[in-house]
Amino acid sequence: MNTHELAAVARALVAKGKGILAADESTGTITRRLDTINVASTADNRRAYRELLFTTPEVEAYISGVILYDETIRQESSDGTLFPALLAGRGIMPGIKVDTGASDLAGFPGEKITEGLDGLAKRLDEYRAIGARFAKWRAVITIGPGCPTPYGIAANAHALARYAALSQQAGLVPIVEPEVLMDGDHTIERCAAVTLAVLRRVFNELHEHRVRLEGILLKPSMVLSGKDCPQQAGVDEVATATLACFRQTIPAAVPGIVFLSGGQSAVRATEHLNAMNARGGHPWELSFSYGRALQGPVLEAWQGQAANVPAAQKFFQQRARCNGAARYGKYAEHMEQAA
Ligand code: 13P
Repeated sequence: MNTHELAAVARALVAKGKGILAADESTGTITRRLDTINVASTADNRRAYRELLFTTPEVEAYISGVILYDETIRQESSDGTLFPALLAGRGIMPGIKVDTGASDLAGFPGEKITEGLDGLAKRLDEYRAIGARFAKWRAVITIGPGCPTPYGIAANAHALARYAALSQQAGLVPIVEPEVLMDGDHTIERCAAVTLAVLRRVFNELHEHRVRLEGILLKPSMVLSGKDCPQQAGVDEVATATLACFRQTIPAAVPGIVFLSGGQSAVRATEHLNAMNARGGHPWELSFSYGRALQGPVLEAWQGQAANVPAAQKFFQQRARCNGAARYGKYAEHMEQAA
């Protein structure tokens, strides 16, 4: 492992004006997304949809990397080019989701633990050999009555750190994703308290596992009101609470923070990122690694029809452009009218 190379990849992923497309939905998750547009989740439909995304013209100006799923990293575009090579040829780095999903944490009702550590070193070597330059592991933290417990947080932080150390050993930049879910009626203050506790524990574990912070990216959720909370925090409040929490917990050695969207609307996710970057002067780059917030409008426009591909690609271009502007705090509402 070469720390300088890892750090260079991490910095390139959060280059000015750029962020990451998360297209690493597991087969179960992409099936749920395709169900919403009544498209059968066959391997070829999944391939066709990912080809639509990866061949969208001009997005390389705003997209530095794409996170792929095990099936996708082995698939090809219609002209027979493997997806990792297609992306790399456009100057977009391929990455790979390496966790195998979250299961119930035994003894802790309502809490989850992410699996996938067994045999991970070998899988990481294989992914590196087929072109991946970075990896992703998602831990899921639920807010609810009596949740999360300190043990639930510790167990997930430990797994994230084990994964991060193994990734760096394999020459892959780990994207460390502790997601505090929006589900529930909790207040933004409760989300802030939980996020603070989670990030403290995650950085403790990363330190214990000798992970080089210069060679990671953090993929956190924003500090938000629960989806069903009657008092919804506004954009400025979210920006203030999120930045306050990060200043307490995220060392300046971390080159970048790439948010997940977590079920926020596409426009809201852009507004939040924009508001944080408009305040400027942060020790880390603040960027995006959105799944739904980049793809929602694209899927909607595609509807599984080849004839709709150009129109769907316009929506991807638009979301990429808007989030690219939000990287500078220069996003404005009128940009939404363009498509
Ligand atoms: P969302 O932006 O849809 O939350 O997806 C990001 C991601 O990669 C979740 O693991």
